[in-house]
Order: sequence, then C-alpha cells, then structure tokens
Amino acid sequence: MNASPRIRFSESADPPRKSRSLGLGVIGLGTVGTGTLKVLVEHQREIQRRLGCKLQLKVICSRSVQRRDLSWLRQPVKITSDWKQVIRDPEVDIVVELVGVLPTARAIAFAALDAGKHLVTANKQVVAEYGVELVELSRARHVGLGIEACVAGGTPVLHAVREGLAGENFTAVYGILNGTTNYILTEMESRGCSFAEALAEAQQKGYAEPDPTFDVEGYDARYKIAILAMMCFGQAVRVREIPVEGITRINQVDLAYARGLNHTLRLIAGARRRTSDRIEIFVRPMMIPTASRLAGVLGATNGVLLVGNKGGNTSITGHGAGGEPTGVAVLSDVVQIARSIIAGRSPSTPFGYESWHPSRMATPDENVVASYLRLVVRDRPGILGRVCTILGRHRINIGSVLQERGNIKNHLPFVMTLEPTQEKRVAGAVREIARLTFLAEPPLVLPFAELP
Ligand SMILES: NC(=O)c1ccc[n+]([C@@H]2O[C@H](COP(=O)([O-])OP(=O)(O)OC[C@H]3O[C@@H](n4cnc5c(N)ncnc54)[C@H](OP(=O)(O)O)[C@@H]3O)[C@@H](O)[C@H]2O)c1
Repeated sequence: MNASPRIRFSESADPPRKSRSLGLGVIGLGTVGTGTLKVLVEHQREIQRRLGCKLQLKVICSRSVQRRDLSWLRQPVKITSDWKQVIRDPEVDIVVELVGVLPTARAIAFAALDAGKHLVTANKQVVAEYGVELVELSRARHVGLGIEACVAGGTPVLHAVREGLAGENFTAVYGILNGTTNYILTEMESRGCSFAEALAEAQQKGYAEPDPTFDVEGYDARYKIAILAMMCFGQAVRVREIPVEGITRINQVDLAYARGLNHTLRLIAGARRRTSDRIEIFVRPMMIPTASRLAGVLGATNGVLLVGNKGGNTSITGHGAGGEPTGVAVLSDVVQIARSIIAGRSPSTPFGYESWHPSRMATPDENVVASYLRLVVRDRPGILGRVCTILGRHRINIGSVLQERGNIKNHLPFVMTLEPTQEKRVAGAVREIARLTFLAEPPLVLPFAELP
C-alpha cells in the first residue's frame, strides 16, 4: 500500500486562499519595533508559506506614531499612540511589546495576557523579574508568551535550550551576553586603546547608551543570565541575588598580562549547578583561555556555551542586538505562537518547565579557583614581602609574580597569579592587602575560568 503524501505542494508562493488570518499589533517603534516591521514587510510572504496562513499587521503604536512616515509599510494599518487600544482591538490576536520602558512594558505585558491576547516581548527586565507570574497568567488564559528576543537578541539561544536540548540535564551555561562590553574589551585588546576610548567609540557606533552604566557594570547581562538560568535549571531566580561586577576597572595592563598567560578577558555571565539543587549565578570579568570558544566571540557579537550532562558542550553565537536581527527573533516567536493557534493547541511554555522550584543559590565563596591579582603600588623596598606574608597567612600559594618594567614609580602595576584556592580565602587576603599603605589603588582580582 502506498503511504499518503504528508506535504502538500503548491505552484503558488501565496498561502492557501481559504486559510484564516492572524492579526498582529506592535507596540513600540524604536530600534527593535522598526526592525521587526521591516523584517515582516520583507519576509511576509515566506512567513505565510511557513504558516500556511496570513499574518496581518493590524495596528502599530508609539507615542510619536502620528508624526512618522510609514509609507514603507506598503499596507494600510491602524495607528495609535495609546497602547491600550492595541490590546482592546478585536482584530489583534498577538501583541508584540517593544517599548523598552520598564513600567509601561510590564503594564502592557500583564494587560495583554489578561485580555487573552498572545504576547511577544523583548523586555528582559520584565521577563527576568516577573517571568513566573507572566507564565502563570498566560497559562490561565491559554495564550502564548514569546521571550526569545530578551536574551542574545537575534541568536536563538532560548529556543535551543527549551526545544533542541529539552532532553539534556545542564550542568552549566556561560555567556557573553552584552555586546557593548564585549565590543569594548575586544577593541581594547586588538587595538591597544583605553577603556574610555573604546567606550566613546561604542557610543558613536550606537552600541552603547549615552549613560553606559547598565551595560558596563553588568546589569544588562544579569537580567539575561537570570532568564537563561531559569530555563536551564527550572528554578525561579531572583535577579537581585545575583552578584554582579562590571568591566570598568579593566585596563591595558590586565589585557597584556592576560595575553602573556595565554588568556583573554571577557565579561562572563554564568550559571552552574553546584549540588543537585543549588545553582551559582554570576556576572563578572574573567580570564578565559585564548583557545576557548567564548574567546573567539568578538566585537558586539554574543555567544553562549551550554554544558550538558550527556551531550557535552554546545555553543551558539550571533547578533546580540540590532533592530533587524532582534526583529527576526521577535517574528520567530510570532510564528511559533501562530502555529499553535492554527493547530488549536496550547502554546509551549516559554521557560521550558511546567513546574518550578524556588531558586536555591550557592555563593561563589566555596569555589576553588586560580586567580589573577593585580596590585598597583607606590614603589619602595619590601612590598613583595608584605604581600606574600599576607597570602601565606591565608594559606594561598603563589603561582607566579610578573612585573613589566614600569617608569611611573608612584603607580607601578605588578601581577600575581594565585594557585587554586577557595574564593572566600582569596577575598579575605585581598581585604587585608587593600589596607597596605603603599597601594596606589584598590587591588583587582579576576578568576581564571576553565572553559572549553
Ligand atoms: N535595541 C536592541 O538592539 C535590543 C535588542 C534586544 C532586546 N531589546 C529590547 O527591546 C525593547 C525595545 O528596545 P528598543 O531599543 O527598540 O527601544 P527604543 O529604541 O527606545 O524604542 C522604544 C519605542 O517605544 C515607544 N514607547 C515608549 N513608551 C511608550 C508608550 N507609553 N506608549 C507607546 N509607545 C511607547 C517609543 O515611542 P516614541 O519613539 O514614539 O517615543 C519608541 O518607539 C527593550 O525592551 C529592549 O531591552 C533591544
């Protein structure tokens, strides 16, 4: 007996004529909103072929929408500056929230789900802080919630964790999740420029905000790793409990010594399983081997390394930001939700878990790691002896002492590598060293990360 064909072939590039159509409402027309609409206009036909159904932009909303030239949309569309109208619109099935302002984004997200609309959001803060409540509300209303664009922009990391690796038991995830800081560090590394020069350039190119604190102090990456950790480990993480350290103290001295040690410096957002129920989550600059996969993530690119119990290492890299790459992630969520609507089934849960554990966080104190210690001193005899005495008292073995010839006697950097030791012991010793009167600035400690 012949098996019946399962795929219908069509001569036409258009979707089947009798199929239903789904309505889209987009709130926010900034970088991502405009990028999303541009991708939709260009890819609409392809998306419709994938869905077998029409996806129609019904309404768009931004505060200044009345003043915009929207002729490039090539289709009639309702406009409004009141986001509540998008949610109330009976022609809108899926609401896309791209406003960026936290209280407004949160209000839109809850109102849309509560009204029984499917929701796609790119707001990492809303998802990291209110993800569990949003999931519960979306379940109660039987609607979909898409969050792919919240982490690593156009790189489908969340999808990989939720779907492609749903059979895996993760032991760790490490990411370069902030393009601004990675651009700054890799420019400093490749061109020898200062942190301030690289930051100014990032601002000029639109990679960094006029106030870069959110990026360079690690807060942006903290929201993203909170979401990734929730997805990898099924625990409801509290963002404020994640220790965060930015890159503002990294300078050319650190990059030069790193190079000499066959390492490089990256802002790593990581989460790892420490015991069966405890996870450690952090955002901090780390020394990583130059041969490791994340060391190859350059410029404003993002990269994630997933470490699985059985499947080993999986790495994904791609655009972490930008209107159109992020627009692709937004529309990919729209397509998935649309598929579930067409099939008449409940959309899959965005975090990949049907039940959650409260987060049980481990502190880094018990970690045993090798460290890089940079001291900047006012040069005088006996400095090394004093520092070594303190380290010895804390039972910390020194791996090496490195000092390039310097000519500023009052501001002389030298570096020590410390053999693997509990982090809390290193922290105790460094607190004592920081009190030594010959120090010209506070010590800097960076862990060596053993990444594949
Ligand atoms: N930029 C990226 O590359 C990127 C990447 C991944 C994720 N994201 C996330 O995507 C979201 C959007 O980011 P973005 O960079 O596109 O922001 P953006 O450029 O600042 O755009 C925000 C848009 O929201 C509109 N808006 C703000 N408040 C509004 C209100 N009360 N009612 C209606 N419209 C309102 C603004 O309208 P007006 O212009 O008319 O004032 C503007 O069009 C954020 O959550 C961000 O974290 C961004």
